[in-house]
Amino acid sequence: YGYDLLVVGSANADLVIGVERRPDPGETVLGSDLAVHPGGKGANQAVAAARLGARTALLARVGDDAHGRLLLDSLRGAGVDTVGVLVGGAPTGVALITVDSGGDNAIVVSPGANGLLTPADARAATSLFHASRVVSAQLEIPLETVVDVVRALPPETRFVLNASPPRALPAEVLAACDPLIVNEHEARVLLGGSRVGEDPADWARILLAKGPRAVVVTLGARGALVASRDGVAHVPALDVTPVDTTGAGDAFTAALAWRLSRGEPLVEAAAYAARVGAATVTRRGAQASFPTARDVAAARS
Ligand code: RIB
Ligand code: NA
Repeated sequence: YGYDLLVVGSANADLVIGVERRPDPGETVLGSDLAVHPGGKGANQAVAAARLGARTALLARVGDDAHGRLLLDSLRGAGVDTVGVLVGGAPTGVALITVDSGGDNAIVVSPGANGLLTPADARAATSLFHASRVVSAQLEIPLETVVDVVRALPPETRFVLNASPPRALPAEVLAACDPLIVNEHEARVLLGGSRVGEDPADWARILLAKGPRAVVVTLGARGALVASRDGVAHVPALDVTPVDTTGAGDAFTAALAWRLSRGEPLVEAAAYAARVGAATVTRRGAQASFPTARDVAAARS
């Protein structure tokens, strides 16, 4: 295999403003200076994995513009193979992000070029699929493209999906997920408002029954739940003070996918991923905040 991980997904310029609190409808608030960071859930995953030491490629689309160059620079700087990053057709995707004083973010994404990452692009990248042990995706690109990614997977290639932002998924996609990764908000959306109670372990079991080979529900400061045929296991979180949670889910998914590519069992991989996610929330930005394997080992004690 040429790559431990092929990420298929979005690349955005993140326009970030810090706020004391978010405005109500019709209200204006003053925030911090604007920061422009490379982001997007796909590019974030690729950078996070590469920073940890994974041989990583990204299949994505950016615009032929300054934001696209910002992303390509960040990807290459982290050592991501950008042979699959297509350029042009629409402006680079943009995410408008407010980060509040508790480190929580709220994000609006304008997909731009991400919306033009087509099933044909996925089919044209067959050689990348065959060269990769694990393929991961998120949902900031057209759902038809994710469907074609699943169809393009060689039989031995493991598929990891972070269902973010959440939407209803076809059975074909659910069945390919090993694992499906969701946070609590995403789990609720995928459960479709059905009366499932308040216990995330129940959500994980119900989601598992919808077809994935395994399900991971991330719980922020409470760690994560891993549901598989073996039952539901709880993975603890590191105790950290969050500064900016942006990209924590992406770093978690990337770390998990990388450890799976090395043959690590899912629960151990999730425990490692939780440590990577914790390191990420202690620094500002998305890609700028991702730790190296050495950083993670140092934070372990
Ligand atoms: O998950 C964080 C990411 O979501 C940000 O980088 C932003 O671009 C949005 O895609
Ligand atoms: Na961060």
